[in-house]
Amino acid sequence: LTGRDDATRFFDAIARRYDRVYAPSREETERRLARVLRELSPASRVLDLGVGTGRELPALLDAGHSPVGVDVSTKMLALCARRSRPVPLLKGDLWEPMPWDDASFDAVLALHGTLSHPPSAEARAALPGEVARVLRPGGILVAEVPTIAWFERMARQAGTSVARLDDGRGRFTDDATGATVEASFLSEDEWRALFASALAVRTEAAEVGEILIVGRRQTS
Ligand SMILES: C[S@@+](CC[C@H](N)C(=O)[O-])C[C@H]1O[C@@H](n2cnc3c(N)ncnc32)[C@H](O)[C@@H]1O
Repeated sequence: LTGRDDATRFFDAIARRYDRVYAPSREETERRLARVLRELSPASRVLDLGVGTGRELPALLDAGHSPVGVDVSTKMLALCARRSRPVPLLKGDLWEPMPWDDASFDAVLALHGTLSHPPSAEARAALPGEVARVLRPGGILVAEVPTIAWFERMARQAGTSVARLDDGRGRFTDDATGATVEASFLSEDEWRALFASALAVRTEAAEVGEILIVGRRQTS
């Protein structure tokens, strides 16, 4: 995989198209966020990995949670800062060790394709442990993770294209800008196994080709 620079370039390039072309509709967003909010305890400190343009922030704030957003794309973060009521936003790479103490958050979110672009299989394997570390015991991860079917649906919907490479990887191209990004195409079982290395995990089928992962940090 080509890594973080690849994802940064891609999301910087498509930032101004993201809400219009890539984000789920308002109705789908409401449905998905209701599913996420159900998992959170009241007044949660929430780490939102890949916060993007902040699509999920109004619902989190309205529900009384305190989100902190992280994103690797300056352009996505700039749009996010304009959209949202002020929340702490940090430019950073979610595949790197995180700059927070152990047990800093009640919940970690990674929504809508955010976990698709790891720089390496090793970085991907390290993420669940790092998420578990920053979660308090009993804290919760909610991630929407894609399979190849999700990418194919997105490609049809957004007028983009997707090509399979070897090793469960693919290349996603935004036709309007020509920006491309590598993605990893894990199966539902592979995603579940990845997070089960550090959290007590359940999965549900979410939207077409997408899986909802809910993982809890064990209390002992
Ligand atoms: C598909 S968007 C999802 C945005 C938002 N969470 C939503 O649901 O609308 C994925 C986001 O993850 C960010 N991202 C991708 N790789 C990242 C990385 N290595 N570190 C931090 N953010 C990353 C992208 O810049 C982009 O804003």
